[in-house]
Amino acid sequence: MLISLLTILWLSITPIVGAKNELFQEYMNQTLLWGPYRSNCYFGIRPRYVNKSPFIMGIMWFDSLKENGVGSIRHFVNPDDHLKKYAWEVYDPRIGGREILLDEENNLNLTVSFSKSHDGLNWVARVEGSPLNPERKSTASIVLYMQQQGGDDDHVSKLVKLENKSKTDFQFDGYSKELGAYLLSIKDNMGQYYSDSTLKSMEVALGADCSKPTHLSLRIPDDQSWKARDVFQTILGDSVKEILQNNANDFDRRLTPSLYQIRNFYNLPPGNFHYVQKTFDNSGSNGFEFDITFNTVDSLQKIKTASAVSNLIESTNNEINIRFDKSFSIKVEEERKFALETLSNLLGGIGYFHGTQIVDRKTIFDEEQFDDISLKNGAEEGPFDLFTSVPSRGKFPRGFYWDEGFHLLQIMEYDFDLAFEIISSWINLIDDNGWVAREVILGDEARSKVPPEFTVQSPHIANPPTLLLAFSEMLTKVLNNINTMDMNRYIDATIDDFQQGTNQLERHPELIREYAEKVYPKLLKHYNWFTTTQKGLIDEYAEILEEEGIWNSVHKDEVFKWVGRTYTHCLPSGLDDYPRAETPDIAELNVDTLAWVGIMTRSMKQIAQVLDMDKDVIRYAQIEKNIIENLDILHWSEEKGCYCDVTIDDDFGDKREFVCHEGYISLLPFALKLIPKHSPHLKKVVALMSNKKKLFSDYGLLSLSKEDEYFGKGENYWRGPIWMNINYLCLDALNFYFPEEVTASKTSVGGLYQALKNNLINNVYRNWKDKGYCYENYDANDGHGSGTEHFTGWTALIVNILGRL
Ligand SMILES: *[C@@H]1O[C@H](CO)[C@@H](O)[C@H](O)[C@H]1NC(C)=O
Ligand SMILES: *[C@@H]1O[C@H](CO)[C@@H](O)[C@H](O)[C@H]1NC(C)=O
Ligand SMILES: *[C@@H]1O[C@H](CO)[C@@H](O)[C@H](O)[C@H]1NC(C)=O
Repeated sequence: MLISLLTILWLSITPIVGAKNELFQEYMNQTLLWGPYRSNCYFGIRPRYVNKSPFIMGIMWFDSLKENGVGSIRHFVNPDDHLKKYAWEVYDPRIGGREILLDEENNLNLTVSFSKSHDGLNWVARVEGSPLNPERKSTASIVLYMQQQGGDDDHVSKLVKLENKSKTDFQFDGYSKELGAYLLSIKDNMGQYYSDSTLKSMEVALGADCSKPTHLSLRIPDDQSWKARDVFQTILGDSVKEILQNNANDFDRRLTPSLYQIRNFYNLPPGNFHYVQKTFDNSGSNGFEFDITFNTVDSLQKIKTASAVSNLIESTNNEINIRFDKSFSIKVEEERKFALETLSNLLGGIGYFHGTQIVDRKTIFDEEQFDDISLKNGAEEGPFDLFTSVPSRGKFPRGFYWDEGFHLLQIMEYDFDLAFEIISSWINLIDDNGWVAREVILGDEARSKVPPEFTVQSPHIANPPTLLLAFSEMLTKVLNNINTMDMNRYIDATIDDFQQGTNQLERHPELIREYAEKVYPKLLKHYNWFTTTQKGLIDEYAEILEEEGIWNSVHKDEVFKWVGRTYTHCLPSGLDDYPRAETPDIAELNVDTLAWVGIMTRSMKQIAQVLDMDKDVIRYAQIEKNIIENLDILHWSEEKGCYCDVTIDDDFGDKREFVCHEGYISLLPFALKLIPKHSPHLKKVVALMSNKKKLFSDYGLLSLSKEDEYFGKGENYWRGPIWMNINYLCLDALNFYFPEEVTASKTSVGGLYQALKNNLINNVYRNWKDKGYCYENYDANDGHGSGTEHFTGWTALIVNILGRL
């Protein structure tokens, strides 16, 4: 019914869809052009889809009153910096936001407010700072670096400092083929540069004077500029060495901050790379504030004055609050603040990556050996682009295939179109064989955060296809919308229409249809790649299942396993150290792989539905049905009463052995809504979730049962700790299977739902309140945050739980 409605609509409007799609894309391109897309930096800017001649910028800081304070200069987000807090309090990539950085070691309370003009072409970053401890003498030595890239190729790109009488302000004239002409200004609003009143001059050597801002222009190859911190430290280090040598033993300590002021020590010729260093007195009641403004010469919406900046920042803040409340309803003010910050941090992790990736296409896996696999034949491929959020800006600042689907489940509730933009960027990466890397690590900057042995990706390795899960949820949302819509609004959209809001695709499903049509062949390749490479060897079971009397009912094509598991780990599954069969065997079949293929199949079916490809719909529906049946026929252990991996046990004569470790893997068919609503197994799964001796805890569902022999053992990564992604799916599934009980909150299922929801919220909130961060996972015994700190990837799903479920 819904489908045919869409078809009629489609036929009547096809000619204008193309034009409208252009408008929509133009709107997306504009509003998402600029952002702090170098999310691996505490604050780093670059434009999106500007690859040949982008402008890039970053902020670093340190306390130059401390000897060797420059060793603690901040640049890339690094958990070892132990910042007391760093967080986007509000952020939306389309308009801007406010990031706070509390750095006790450097005695600095830093706030960066980022805002964009309505047309998306101009932006400003207002940097405000003050001491955390006013008693402590310190400086805030802020180092900005920026580069207009593409200069060496065409000699057209430029970024040149303009002469200006002002002692504190700078203006730069910029041009790039892709960005056009622009002006960049750095202008102080308040603050005092450091100087010691007992001294006449702060200059320790020519150009080394902290009482005024310093500028250094030089040439750095485009692909090296991300090393801005190393270059700064090297130049400074040599400068310091020389000054100290010249002053032998009587260096006047009062001049220390000038010692750490960059100067043109090597007499380098100027170029398109610039450092600007401002050393503010950061003691007592002193604070400082300056604006970095980027204005495109052709824009009619230039950001001109400090008060215009203040207004822009305020309206950005208001707009985000309005948008947030439209999507989420959270009554308790403190919880709302927590949720807004958490969502903002997920969005603040969104990055734009461009570069090559390293792939080993030569190493063939011997499926009979399970030692650690080393990928020694990596070769560069690309360059590629990726627009994605990241699991953690400090620890994992790159694209993760399995995390991203979960990020999208959250992002789509705030900005559907943004989620769509991200998913299309990933779908773009699907190669001719249908493969996408598990970790997408593009370019040297991204690779610098990855141990070398993990930079190489293999086209034999899969990962849970969560992107298809997210795509399926998106399509469901759009399809549900269609019959409540005013048809007339399809007919003549204008760019203004698109500027009205963020959920355009929900309102213009014909655009999704056009997109689905375009990517269907790619998704099909991906589907085929997954289902071919991860296929299990069912024939190994022929005799066994014959004897069990079920060989004829098993669907032979719908059996799967993760390729690339080792004795100790199954990294492709995403649940690295979750216990599997003790002795790996080529015949092993993994229940979670099968469940994930179920979701892929369902998603393909929905896309085929949207495209009216009836034959394909029927084919996928059949495969989906087979998978659902195989879950029960092959993987349900009647004895244990749960879903389990199976393998062949050679020790006890050839036998089908259930490998049952109660935990997330046993819940997955339920969490992914693959169990039929009338299935008798549903009750048992719910009972397992409710069991306090096993999976239920005051902090959320444990990844592995407390009664399991591996609970809490070894690395203890997926052997007990509580993870938000699977908890979220379980809550959502409870809602799906038991809508009435959940709403009435009466029966035991309703009680389970409420308790689980409250426990998750309370625990993540409590940790945030204590420590200021979200965590990768939470301890099974006392709920404390564990794993990576500031992990606002899928843990951010708590926002949906608070505001939507
Ligand atoms: C939007 O940006 C993408 C990526 O650069 C580009 O392929 C596309 O042509 C742009 N579309 C419009 C309408 O500007
Ligand atoms: C940091 O500074 C801001 C003002 O810029 C202030 O609102 C905030 O309370 C300060 N935070 C701390 C921890 O001092
Ligand atoms: C000098 O800087 C000030 C402040 O940024 C600016 O208003 C002025 O236009 C600049 N002058 C030149 C010649 O760039």
